[in-house]
Amino acid sequence: MEHLLNLYRESDIICFATPIYTWNMTALLKNFIDRLIPLKVPQMTETNGHLDMKNQDSTPKKIVILSNSGFPGENNFDVLRASVACAEPILEIYRNCGKLLKSKNPDVLQKVNVWLESVEAAGQELVLQNNVSEEIKTRLQQPLMTIPEYMDYLGM
Ligand SMILES: Cc1cc2nc3c(=O)[nH]c(=O)nc-3n(C[C@H](O)[C@H](O)[C@H](O)COP(=O)(O)O)c2cc1C
Repeated sequence: MEHLLNLYRESDIICFATPIYTWNMTALLKNFIDRLIPLKVPQMTETNGHLDMKNQDSTPKKIVILSNSGFPGENNFDVLRASVACAEPILEIYRNCGKLLKSKNPDVLQKVNVWLESVEAAGQELVLQNNVSEEIKTRLQQPLMTIPEYMDYLGM
């Protein structure tokens, strides 16, 4: 953890990545986030009515959240979205129908690759321009397939 804390201190962009487990981030990521507490100092700070302990580092990190869910539907990310809201992420990428990411079907693979290109483009824009364009954000939200098609794909 000491090594990870040092990497965290040195970084200007932090990307938290987790699959959705039981409508939330994994226990592993939650544990990691809890263990970031040494980066705080015992002093209160208030942002938009939200009280927190002050960060040691006065330069705020840019936070990116990346997650995939096995089920279709945006609601799978509601709890995660709410949990990370106070960190004011600069970018959130939520991929539902996540089982498709491992597909070997050429038609599905083509759609997944187009989506992954948008993920890469988002990363490039973030690093080079310090923000992600609405065009890329819209592309990231495109469904990979309809819910009935996905159910059919899963054989459920
Ligand atoms: C314990 C457990 C709980 C899960 N809970 C959810 C869930 O609440 N919603 C959901 O969409 N997917 C859920 N999933 C599916 C995972 O999000 C999915 O497996 C993940 O995106 C990783 O994909 P992979 O299994 O193909 O590696 C769960 C998986 C596990 C193992």
